[in-house]
Amino acid sequence: MNSSTIKNYPTDDVRWKNVYAELSKYAFSKNSLIQVLHTVQDTFGYLDKKSIHYVAKSLDIPFSQVYGVATFYHYFTLKPPALHTCTICTGTACHIKGADFLLKAVKDNFGVIPCEMTPDGKLAIFTARCLGACGIAPVAIIDNEVVGNLEPEILLSKLNGVLKSVN
Ligand code: FES
Repeated sequence: MNSSTIKNYPTDDVRWKNVYAELSKYAFSKNSLIQVLHTVQDTFGYLDKKSIHYVAKSLDIPFSQVYGVATFYHYFTLKPPALHTCTICTGTACHIKGADFLLKAVKDNFGVIPCEMTPDGKLAIFTARCLGACGIAPVAIIDNEVVGNLEPEILLSKLNGVLKSVN
């Protein structure tokens, strides 16, 4: 495949140049498939059909094979990331201090359980085993902010505040 064909990016998003640079770095070798998929996901947050098709064409690998790799490894995701994330700690200290009530409150109010996102894609919920802040258990990380001494009402208030800030 010549490089001008490969430079026919799937969209006019300038970030495709990063992907192209990665493809060039590995001389468009089929062996670079995993690395290139990582670069696409790091760049755009997920892999969609257009990007998988582009990688397949660029590396001269059948689409079905690239799609198979993208769906086999848990690291790769075919869904766009949520606008906001909330990671609730379920480690021992947080469990004792009521992490289960936080999870229940989130489920009851937003209809999501860990590793799911709301249908509108605005909020994804995760859990973690100890976030290293046991002294202020129970703890969650909302986007990049560590929030401790949580109670269900406080968590819901914070999450609603974050979601309202979405344009
Ligand atoms: S157990 Fe939750 S922060 Fe350590």
